[in-house]
Amino acid sequence: MQIAADRTPRHIAVIMDGNGRWARQRGLPRLAGHEAGSETVRCMMDCCRDAGVRYLTLYAFSTENWVRPQAEVEGLMALLGAFITRYEAELVERRVRLRVIGRREDLPVALQEALARVEAATAAFDRHLLVALSYSGRAELARAARQIAEDVRAGVLAPEAVDEEAVRARLYAPDVPDPDLLIRTSGEMRISNFLLWQCAYSEFYVSPVLWPDFREPDFRAALEAYAGRERRYGGVLDACARRV
Ligand code: FPP
Repeated sequence: MQIAADRTPRHIAVIMDGNGRWARQRGLPRLAGHEAGSETVRCMMDCCRDAGVRYLTLYAFSTENWVRPQAEVEGLMALLGAFITRYEAELVERRVRLRVIGRREDLPVALQEALARVEAATAAFDRHLLVALSYSGRAELARAARQIAEDVRAGVLAPEAVDEEAVRARLYAPDVPDPDLLIRTSGEMRISNFLLWQCAYSEFYVSPVLWPDFREPDFRAALEAYAGRERRYGGVLDACARRV
């Protein structure tokens, strides 16, 4: 099925879930699931390019994930570093801008440096890969509230000027449009503290497929489901122009 451009999401956010179960089903360590999951990341970048999706946001590590066994956390950090280094040239060649959202200061210094290098090298491009690292939606909103309080105290923001735009302006990536489509893999039906502000009107799609097995046909199924949705943003159909 050919999907019309005006029925294609501009921004897709993904909760990449099921790496651990994928590994367990094969009698492998959990890290093997994350390694296989990073292949899916690469595949999704191709899928988004081919489908004309301009923004892809991936939930790679939450603020809550730090409590996982040390070996898994260290392995994931190493995997992320290796991925960034390995695909730096490819991101530049494909003109994809890498952006990190989350508490980057929590990450190992070497990873912070590698991310900053690739962010700088790709800053001019206008297709976006956002990677949520040490991220939580509540922490992002608390950070925005703190910045607002500081700006009010400093006299640069009047309390009565605190509106939705004032909050949005203090999110990690205020210029990025809200996700049109949020995909979660592995059949789980939770938002897990991801993009709580930004997903206010996102369409949800839950795939039963585990993230390491998620491939182009699964991505197409999500796009087709999205293309069939009517977005009303709290209004009624007749009165509501599509905002995609
Ligand atoms: C959730 O599955 C997945 C994660 C916490 C990590 C996701 C990370 C990657 C796919 C690594 C590569 C990422 C990038 C951006 C290169 P889970 O471990 O909670 O799975 P389970 O619910 O089956 O245990």
